[in-house]
Amino acid sequence: MIAIGCDHTGIDLKNEVIGYLNKKKISFVDFGTNQTEATDYPIYAKKVGHAIVEGRCEQGILICGTGIGVSMAANKINGIRAALCHDVFSAKSTRLHNDANVLVMGARVIGAGHALEVLEAFLSTNFSGEERHIRRIEQLEN
Ligand code: RB5
Repeated sequence: MIAIGCDHTGIDLKNEVIGYLNKKKISFVDFGTNQTEATDYPIYAKKVGHAIVEGRCEQGILICGTGIGVSMAANKINGIRAALCHDVFSAKSTRLHNDANVLVMGARVIGAGHALEVLEAFLSTNFSGEERHIRRIEQLEN
């Protein structure tokens, strides 16, 4: 199960992501927002992050204007490894090396076509499981 969230700037890109997930028959929960009025990105980052650390979802996707605000908010939660990726290489690498559990994108930074390629790379790449990467990930926790 994938948790998805965005602020008001990310609704269109989130809908593109939802279309992709539906096409691939990947289950998801949409934590909003779906309102175009300005809202606060930490609300949605926390909803997605908590759904993952509480075991209700395995991975998450977060979108705000730059991707930076939701990254900051999500990475405050112990157990969340949110990776801001605007290219396929980073998306693959963060799964292989960091076992990132949240993909973050900036709706004002990346176009939908490229974003879906980044998403596909993220979702189709497994963590390497290598000892050095496990050791480093463990050091991320408080
Ligand atoms: C909203 O204007 C914008 O600040 C937000 O989407 C995000 O980019 C913050 O990091």
